[in-house]
Amino acid sequence: HRVLLLGAPGAGKGTQSTKLAEEYGIEHVTTGDALRARKDMETEYGTPREYMEAGDLVPDPVVNEIVEAALADADGFVLDGYPRNLDQAEYLSEITDLDAVIFLDVDEEVLVDRLTGRRVCEDCGANYHVEFAPPEEPGVCDECGGDLHQRDDDTEETARERLSVYRENTEPVIEHFRETGDLVEIDGEAAPDEVFDRIRNVLDEE
Ligand code: AP5
Ligand code: ZN
Repeated sequence: HRVLLLGAPGAGKGTQSTKLAEEYGIEHVTTGDALRARKDMETEYGTPREYMEAGDLVPDPVVNEIVEAALADADGFVLDGYPRNLDQAEYLSEITDLDAVIFLDVDEEVLVDRLTGRRVCEDCGANYHVEFAPPEEPGVCDECGGDLHQRDDDTEETARERLSVYRENTEPVIEHFRETGDLVEIDGEAAPDEVFDRIRNVLDEE
C-alpha cells in the first residue's frame, strides 16, 4: 500500500499511521518526527526549530528533500504530515504514485483539546492523552517506563497558530484531492480503534 493520511494537527494521523505501518508492514513516513529529529540542523533557511516552535511550516525545500529520501527507500508507506501546501502536493505527485488518500475529519475545538492534552514518551515516542488515552500511571510510558512530556508546540497558543496555518495552507490540499475524486473522508472523532477499522476497510477494498 501507498497511503496518504491527511488531517489537521491533532486529527490522529500519528496514532493511525503507527498502527497502519504495523498492520500492513509498511513504512511510516512522517515529516513531523523527521523534523523533530533534525530540529537544530543548519539549513540556508535557518533551523527547523525556529519554524516549528512558532507553529509555522518549515520551508518546502528542506521538507521535500526529507520526503524524497524517505520514499525512495520505501516499498509501501503511509505518509503523515506531508503535503501541507499545494506546492508540496505538486512535488509529491512528481516523485510517487498513491493508491489511497484518506482524510481524518475532526472539529476544531476537539483538535485543541487533543493537542493540549497530548503527552509523548521521551524514550520510545509513544503517544498518550491525559484524558482520552491516559497511561496506567500518570507521566509514565506503558510501553517502556520512560517519562512523558508535552511537545513544545502543544501549548494552546501554538496549537491555535498551527490550526490557522493548516486552514490557510493545507485545506487547499484537501480540496485538491477532493476535486480529483481520490479523497476518502473518515470521521476522525470516533474512538481510535473505530477509526482504525474504518481505514482498514478502505484499504482492504482496493
Ligand atoms: P507534525 O508533527 O506533523 O504535527 P501535526 O500535523 O500538527 O500533527 P500532530 O502530530 O500534532 O497530530 P496528529 O494528527 O499526528 O495526531 P495524534 O495522533 O498525535 O508537525 C509538527 C510541525 O513540524 C509543524 O507545525 C511544522 O512546523 C513542521 N512540519 C511537519 N511537516 C511539515 C511539512 N510537510 N511542511 C512544513 N513543515 C512541516 O493525536 C493527537 C492527540 O489526540 C494524542 O494525544 C492522541 O492520543 C489523541 N487522539 C488521537 N486519536 C484520537 C481519537 N480517535 N479519539 C480521542 N483522542 C485521540
Ligand atoms: Zn515509551
